[in-house]
Amino acid sequence: MRDVTPENLTEAFAAYAAKAEDPRAKEVLCALAKHLHAFVRETKLSHAEWMAALMALTRAGEISTPARNEFILFSDLLGVSALVDMVNTPPGATSCSNLGPFHQRGAPAMPDGGDLWKGQAGEPLLVTGRVTDGATGMGIAGAKLDLWQNAANGLYAVQDAAQPDKNYHGLLNCAADGSFAFTTTLPQPYSVPYDGPAGDMLRLLGRDAWRPAHLHVIAEAPGFRPLVTELFPEGDPHLDKDAVFGVRADLVVTLRRVGRDAAPAHLQARDALPAEFWMAELVIRMARG
Ligand code: BEZ
Ligand code: FE
Repeated sequence: MRDVTPENLTEAFAAYAAKAEDPRAKEVLCALAKHLHAFVRETKLSHAEWMAALMALTRAGEISTPARNEFILFSDLLGVSALVDMVNTPPGATSCSNLGPFHQRGAPAMPDGGDLWKGQAGEPLLVTGRVTDGATGMGIAGAKLDLWQNAANGLYAVQDAAQPDKNYHGLLNCAADGSFAFTTTLPQPYSVPYDGPAGDMLRLLGRDAWRPAHLHVIAEAPGFRPLVTELFPEGDPHLDKDAVFGVRADLVVTLRRVGRDAAPAHLQARDALPAEFWMAELVIRMARG
């Protein structure tokens, strides 16, 4: 096409893709181009503004490493990661939420009743709950929970050389009826990295970089879709302004002050618990597939 105009450019893009072999790739890429074209038309984007965006992406590439991916951070801070999570949450299942960059594979196995706390600083927290089939409410046999969170200093093990390897990481094998219990400490709010171009975007928008405290969970069970999510203790001042839009109503958990009589007998750290501590009860609903 030689008579390209602002009005027919999107059509021209789609026409150029006529020979695409993968129909889904064609659909997604043509939709991306359509929305980018509409964005440029709507904002009457200047050359300087577009160059600033391209330079931000260039810097994102330059500072990204296996441990820090600035493109994923842009996706998180733009709300795109959250939207992908939300449109892919099956009906009846617990909401999906951010994986984040601090997950470590190969967490140590933990039995039902296991302990992530290990007597470290922080406010002890007992978490009990059940992994259920979201369609029937029945407990799921063979469920596993990959758990990770930050320590009382707000840092994950991968960010802090002073913590033991895979500290506050555990792969919990639930009981046969899908129930589980474990001890940990209250996770802490923390800020996402803001020293790169994604942080520049936050500053341009007058936004802050904080995430409310959360416990990350990947739930897996035979015959069910793996679920990547996070749970947010109620009361955190950042719950309504999570920098990465990860909070959903069903992921906010109530905390109660309880005594040792609330701790199940099989809890490994039962005797180490103080007279009063925090407790949260969860139901993790999974979808078949
Ligand atoms: C996190 O939850 O660990 C996280 C998520 C997105 C960006 C940075 C950190
Ligand atoms: Fe996190």
